[in-house]
Amino acid sequence: MGAQILDGKEVAKKVRAQVRREAKIFTEQTGQTPCLAVIIVGEDPASQIYVKNKKLACEKCGFLSREYALPETTTQQELIDLIRTLNSDAQVNGILVQQPLPKHMNVSQINEVIDPDKDVDAFHPVNTGKIMIGNAQLLPCTPAGILEMLDAYEIPIEGRECVVVGRSNLVGKPVAMLMLSRNATVTLCHSRTRDLAEITRRADILIVAIGRARMITADMIKPGAVVVDVGVNRTEAGIFGDVDFVPASEKASYITPVPGGVGRMTIAMLMRNTLAAAKIQAQKNKKE
Ligand code: GUN
Repeated sequence: MGAQILDGKEVAKKVRAQVRREAKIFTEQTGQTPCLAVIIVGEDPASQIYVKNKKLACEKCGFLSREYALPETTTQQELIDLIRTLNSDAQVNGILVQQPLPKHMNVSQINEVIDPDKDVDAFHPVNTGKIMIGNAQLLPCTPAGILEMLDAYEIPIEGRECVVVGRSNLVGKPVAMLMLSRNATVTLCHSRTRDLAEITRRADILIVAIGRARMITADMIKPGAVVVDVGVNRTEAGIFGDVDFVPASEKASYITPVPGGVGRMTIAMLMRNTLAAAKIQAQKNKKE
């Protein structure tokens, strides 16, 4: 018996449709159309595709979008100045700086310049801190997309053993926090974890974001586990997730494919955050 596929493409489509409906109501009530500004520095081809996809997703949701394509030679200060201009531009609701940035730039400083209310990646320390406390309004897109997908398939979370492999600020740490806030028992593993297989075999829900092609093999998976693969590893043989998909899908009850799994959810959640940001700003403007 093979695992059921967690279809990111389908769930993302439903999320976008819901965001589109809500955005229409928001526009009717406020006269405003949500607007996302995306900044890209340099000409990394993968980043250019991601940025194009974000623009297309905005169109599908009825949002406005702006793209700022800056040359590789842009200075840190020039980027900061652009972000500050967008922070004070009332037409712009969400600001996203596509990563990776060129090596001469300091990413954490950039993340701190973005207005937390416009921070649709939820990378600003104020937003990452709110995730810890459990009152965040803007959630990081990939972790939020994982939970959205589990919910779409009505996979129970409360009380279950969740093992997260990978401790990045982008995925591992925040998804561990979100699973904890839903009352899972969470174990966070990483590259220095001893006896990794012994721990992953305990998982009812196994979330892998380590960035190594096919490193989670079928023997590391508990029969019937839910397996969420966040990895996108480009190799000479093609694109692979962090999970050895074919044998793993014989063992799991549910599994995400790569591509077509978690990746699809990330942009859908970015759209949800852009609408949420527009609502936060509209509320604040009303109070002022
Ligand atoms: N590069 C790859 N994924 C992402 C993301 O989610 N946000 C940003 N800003 N850059 C990325």
